[in-house]
Amino acid sequence: MKDAALFDIITKEILEHEVFSESKKHIQHGRISVYHHSLSVARLSFVIGEFFNIRDKRSLVRSALLHDFFLYDWHVPEKMWSLHGWTHPVLAAENAKKYFDISDKEYSMIRSHMWPHTLFHPPKYREGWIICVADKLVSARETLFKR
Ligand SMILES: [Fe+2]
Ligand SMILES: [Fe+2]
Repeated sequence: MKDAALFDIITKEILEHEVFSESKKHIQHGRISVYHHSLSVARLSFVIGEFFNIRDKRSLVRSALLHDFFLYDWHVPEKMWSLHGWTHPVLAAENAKKYFDISDKEYSMIRSHMWPHTLFHPPKYREGWIICVADKLVSARETLFKR
């Protein structure tokens, strides 16, 4: 990461938010919380964004950080058998709108992060494609290595 200071400025508001901190209580993969998973996806998205010279790093990083802001434990039996894979992008986008006043572009990027799982909602922006790929890489690492 070349511009860590910019990353810290963009992420500060969200990381310090009391409701976002609740995601520390929920496990995403292995022993990794949703909070730390989201931070890893934001970091990797930022690095990829630097590589491709993405200008709108604010939207990129905010959407990456909020992409799994669904605020429940999906490992409980009721949720595991639910349509979590399809429904959580909408829930995350709605929570992000409620607590962080996100733009339409940011909403769209959160909504599309599960593509191709959510077949009819592919990313519309370059930044959205970056988040989609970063999420899959981070998820694979967390699932395989449980760290
Ligand atoms: Fe997700
Ligand atoms: Fe994710």
